[in-house]
Amino acid sequence: MHFFLLQSFFPFLLIASFLSINVELSLCQNDQHFTNCSSELNCGSVGGISYPFWGVNRASYCGKAGYEVQCQDNVPVFNMKGVSYRILQMNTTTNWTVKVARNDYWGSICNPTFVNTTLNFSLFDYVSTYTNMTLYYQCPTTITLPNVQYCNTSSVFYLTRSMTVGQPSPVTCINVVIVPVYTTAALAIEAGQTTTITDAIDGGFSLQLQIDNDQCDKCLESGGQCGLNTTTNSGFSCFCADQAYASTCNGTSSSSQGGGTSVPCHSLINYTYGTPSLLFVLDD
Ligand SMILES: *[C@@H]1O[C@H](CO)[C@@H](O)[C@H](O)[C@H]1NC(C)=O
Ligand SMILES: *[C@@H]1O[C@H](CO)[C@@H](O)[C@H](O)[C@H]1NC(C)=O
Ligand SMILES: *[C@@H]1O[C@H](CO)[C@@H](O)[C@H](O)[C@H]1NC(C)=O
Ligand SMILES: *[C@@H]1O[C@H](CO)[C@@H](O)[C@H](O)[C@H]1NC(C)=O
Ligand SMILES: *[C@@H]1O[C@H](CO)[C@@H](O)[C@H](O)[C@H]1NC(C)=O
Ligand SMILES: *[C@@H]1O[C@H](CO)[C@@H](O)[C@H](O)[C@H]1NC(C)=O
Ligand SMILES: *[C@@H]1O[C@H](CO)[C@@H](O)[C@H](O)[C@H]1NC(C)=O
Ligand SMILES: *[C@@H]1O[C@H](CO)[C@@H](O)[C@H](O)[C@H]1NC(C)=O
Ligand SMILES: *[C@@H]1O[C@H](CO)[C@@H](O)[C@H](O)[C@H]1NC(C)=O
Ligand SMILES: *[C@@H]1O[C@H](CO)[C@@H](O)[C@H](O)[C@H]1NC(C)=O
Repeated sequence: MHFFLLQSFFPFLLIASFLSINVELSLCQNDQHFTNCSSELNCGSVGGISYPFWGVNRASYCGKAGYEVQCQDNVPVFNMKGVSYRILQMNTTTNWTVKVARNDYWGSICNPTFVNTTLNFSLFDYVSTYTNMTLYYQCPTTITLPNVQYCNTSSVFYLTRSMTVGQPSPVTCINVVIVPVYTTAALAIEAGQTTTITDAIDGGFSLQLQIDNDQCDKCLESGGQCGLNTTTNSGFSCFCADQAYASTCNGTSSSSQGGGTSVPCHSLINYTYGTPSLLFVLDD
């Protein structure tokens, strides 16, 4: 009877220990922070959106506060000071910039949110390649400026530079909105080339991300993913395949213990192996 019990339990114990080893192995080889932050933001056709941005499929610890992205109609957008911006492109290879365009101006300048483009300088700064466009809405009929776009209800005047002497002043227009465009696009409009004001604004402008580029570059080079220190909920962490580190992954072949990932994995295997062996002895 005793022998029979052992015989029927033995395969079960083997299977149980085999399963637990596999589960623990996959856990220790893929730190959940590393796995989660390895995915780029999944929204529409704009690829390459990563740290410091988070949201949608990227957990909040994959980015920094203030850089939350939402996916609206398959377009990645973020809000800043009352205006929604769509992300057109992210460039991590050159100084960590992002090309954005005002979402309310997308496709038409006729019905925007009447709010100036104002940056939160703790998150973004301008790159020197931009020019402020000024758009004038609901102007007195006495005003005529050379640059005009006809909308259904009224006309919109726009200037690529500050007012020059001799121009009629549109200061009495009801709404005035400043929108940055690439200087090349502003120059094309000034030169009377085919660029329309809508195309110029939809072309967007570049913003420099206010993050420590070097810190993230070094983490990425070591095979990690940049993220938030989840212990303090602020500051930087480098998420690596085995665990989180303060700056870079510590699991290269030059490491003194012959591979950082092997240390936590071995101790887990020994623990799970030990449990069924102990049960077997007690049963006997
Ligand atoms: C990452 O985390 C987010 C938020 O918790 C979750 O929605 C998403 O499914 C996770 N993705 C992966 C690949 O684990
Ligand atoms: C600017 O961004 C920082 C970081 O997210 C935030 O704490 C601050 O409130 C923002 N400032 C404004 C004026 O929105
Ligand atoms: C990033 O910027 C560099 C230099 O301006 C450029 O060569 C590269 O194509 C850009 N990459 C992306 C994805 O925009
Ligand atoms: C990157 O930024 C540094 C310092 O702001 C600047 O000197 C350099 O020209 C920039 N590089 C590019 C390709 O924009
Ligand atoms: C935008 O800025 C201009 C110039 O500073 C100002 O005249 C205008 O009233 C501002 N518009 C809004 C909507 O705040
Ligand atoms: C453009 O306008 C913003 C305010 O909307 C201002 O902070 C910035 O200095 C202006 N830039 C130039 C080049 O005039
Ligand atoms: C003008 O009104 C028509 C019909 O309501 C609409 O289809 C069109 O998009 C409007 N155009 C602009 C520039 O708002
Ligand atoms: C998180 O921050 C604390 C306090 O600065 C630091 O001691 C710890 O090493 C950091 N952890 C990671 C994984 O970055
Ligand atoms: C990397 O691992 C080695 C060996 O475990 C250890 O001596 C060293 O302090 C670690 N370095 C960092 C930055 O964690
Ligand atoms: C786990 O087993 C390995 C050999 O397989 C051994 O080198 C290591 O010291 C053991 N670790 C623990 C915590 O028992």
